[in-house]
Amino acid sequence: MEERLNDLRAQFFEDAKSVADTDALTALRDKYLGRKSGLIAAEKKRVGSLAPQARAEFGRLVNELGDEVESEIARIKEHLAEAAASSALERERIDVTLPGTRPRRGHLHPITLLRQRIEDVFVSMGYSVEDGPEIETSFYNFDALNIPPGHPARDSADTFYVSKDLALRSQTSNVQIHSMQRRQPPLRVIAPGRVFRRDTPDPTHNPMFFQVEGLNVDRNITLADLKGTLQKFVEMMYGANLKTRFRPSYFPFVEPGAEVDFSCYVCDGTGCRVCKGSGWIELGGSGMVHPNVLLSVGIDPEEFSGFAFGLGIDRMAALMYGIDDIRLLYENDVRFLEQFA
Ligand code: PHE
Repeated sequence: MEERLNDLRAQFFEDAKSVADTDALTALRDKYLGRKSGLIAAEKKRVGSLAPQARAEFGRLVNELGDEVESEIARIKEHLAEAAASSALERERIDVTLPGTRPRRGHLHPITLLRQRIEDVFVSMGYSVEDGPEIETSFYNFDALNIPPGHPARDSADTFYVSKDLALRSQTSNVQIHSMQRRQPPLRVIAPGRVFRRDTPDPTHNPMFFQVEGLNVDRNITLADLKGTLQKFVEMMYGANLKTRFRPSYFPFVEPGAEVDFSCYVCDGTGCRVCKGSGWIELGGSGMVHPNVLLSVGIDPEEFSGFAFGLGIDRMAALMYGIDDIRLLYENDVRFLEQFA
């Protein structure tokens, strides 16, 4: 009788050896401890068919074997759980010696990069950088800039009005007025920023674009100072060999007024695709601050004079980077912007 149980025990331990996961363990348990068809249950059922004097002893041995099987299964279960935990640890282990994953870094917008270069050039000439409001009253947008009521520049077909007296600035020249109100001359400021015009977007126009305003007010400022300043700017931005020229022009807030061009840095003035054959590239508007503008902020035009200019940053960017459609600068298409990283 004992022999039978010893064989069963040996068979169990043999089977247990190959258990490698919880499914196999469940199968093992069912095979031996299953209530109905388990092998141990089958032995228990045999007790009744034994001679009465052998029953107690056999029953005890079967129970012992049952306990032994039970505790071996519990041991295997614990062992499997430990193995699973340590292999999970192994899998999740962090190798601190591996190089890190580099986060994707952004970069500055091409307009911002160029704006910073322009700022550096003027700062090196003693200018300070100022900021002004993008939504502005008629006083700063027009009146103080010598743009009288009825002037076409005030037309709502050109300017975005927010209310009767408030509009998005169509030029950075409003900052001239703020600067002169804030500080007494001598005054040297530049003011880069957004401006807004009711233009239909096309490759060379966008309803929002960037300008940089310049203003220099002091005693004895002359047109020669303006010419020299812009000449220096062109040299520092585009090349020491380049020339500048003035073309007479009209802006209500300057007198005299001029459009500024510089000789093409690609062909050196002989004519090419970039300067459209003319040898010259437009830089922006400029002139001597109109006496009425000085008066509007309480500066005596007999004592002080000044020059002002307004340059288009977008146009400079388009030229510099060879962009043939300035709208690309505002669409925020990452494939385009990534080229300027
Ligand atoms: N504000 C003018 C423009 O937007 C440019 C300019 C600025 C002209 C300062 C003269 C002086 O076209």
